[in-house]
Amino acid sequence: MLAYSYSRYGSPDVLEQVTLPTPTPQPNEVLVKIHATTVSAGDWRARSLTMPKGLGFMGRLVFGITGPRKPVLGTEFSGVVAAVGSEVTSYQPGDEVIGFPGASFGAHAEFITMPSDGKLVRKPDNISFEQAAAIPFGGTTAYDFLVNKAKLQPGTKVLINGASGSVGSACVQIAKHLGAHVTAVCSAKNAQMVTGLGADQVIDYQTQNVITDGMLYDTVVDAVGTLPWAQARHALRPGGQMVLIAGKTSDMLFGSLKARLAGKRLIGGVASERREIIEAVTQLAAQGIFQPVIDRNYPFDEMKAAHAHVDTGHKCGNVVISMT
Ligand SMILES: NC(=O)c1ccc[n+]([C@@H]2O[C@H](COP(=O)([O-])OP(=O)(O)OC[C@H]3O[C@@H](n4cnc5c(N)ncnc54)[C@H](OP(=O)(O)O)[C@@H]3O)[C@@H](O)[C@H]2O)c1
Repeated sequence: MLAYSYSRYGSPDVLEQVTLPTPTPQPNEVLVKIHATTVSAGDWRARSLTMPKGLGFMGRLVFGITGPRKPVLGTEFSGVVAAVGSEVTSYQPGDEVIGFPGASFGAHAEFITMPSDGKLVRKPDNISFEQAAAIPFGGTTAYDFLVNKAKLQPGTKVLINGASGSVGSACVQIAKHLGAHVTAVCSAKNAQMVTGLGADQVIDYQTQNVITDGMLYDTVVDAVGTLPWAQARHALRPGGQMVLIAGKTSDMLFGSLKARLAGKRLIGGVASERREIIEAVTQLAAQGIFQPVIDRNYPFDEMKAAHAHVDTGHKCGNVVISMT
């Protein structure tokens, strides 16, 4: 099978198209022929070893000390089951599925094996393969942080910084679904898009102050890492909470303590990749409540160009790779 592989950290030029043996499913696994995948912020971090300042060594611990431990990137995919292991009863060849290998990677290839009871769900018929591939990364991150961790309530005022990214655009939609009043922070070129997703107000971070005197929110979400606690705290009502999906190392390490001392709360850490969350987000997508935003769609042969676009830090939603 064709795949993209890398053996050292760096620019998109470290990626090489290679031919690898097609994997054989273990008794409890399914083999999926991938139809679409994405280049996510996770792929960008793992390929370039770009980590928040001071966490470079942590990046090597996670992705590989001397070089990449997982040579094939790709955190999410949609496809069709091509074969099943001898013990699998829940899937059969021909089933359309969505998978989220996440930190295990491996989706930048023509085929992938996944445990049948792992991070794999059925693709709803009313969603294209391209849309389906873009559900897990942004969708589960937004869902886990806003629903499970922050427990957003109807009527609460939420500020979402980085509202035009994969995670941010999912946060806008899920916060609206939960009944929140959403102020989205993005640049002018994306204002119409986030309004279309349901944002009630938009702040253009290039021409306006994100934090303005007197404007208080129940929840401030940083989905891009440019709104440190020191600023965000001024926009939180007493008892309010910050959701730190991306941010400075010092906020990741000490933000929760700093927030508590200020009578507020900071929720950080890593989003869960649990199957139930993928299922919940996929159901929201099937109902049209969550529509993953697709910025560009590249053919598999243009993987390097897709990575280069993600590297700009200005993609709008998701960058999808079509295998066909
Ligand atoms: N904690 C976790 O478990 C977890 C899980 C998933 C992802 N993450 C992290 O979440 C972050 C976002 O991921 P993503 O996939 O959503 O990234 P992304 O799609 O690459 O984000 C790009 C978006 O950020 C916007 N942006 C850039 N600078 C901005 C600024 N100063 N203010 C507001 N918006 C700005 C860009 O809009 P413009 O073009 O208008 O600038 C662009 O639309 C990444 O750092 C990722 O590592 C964390």
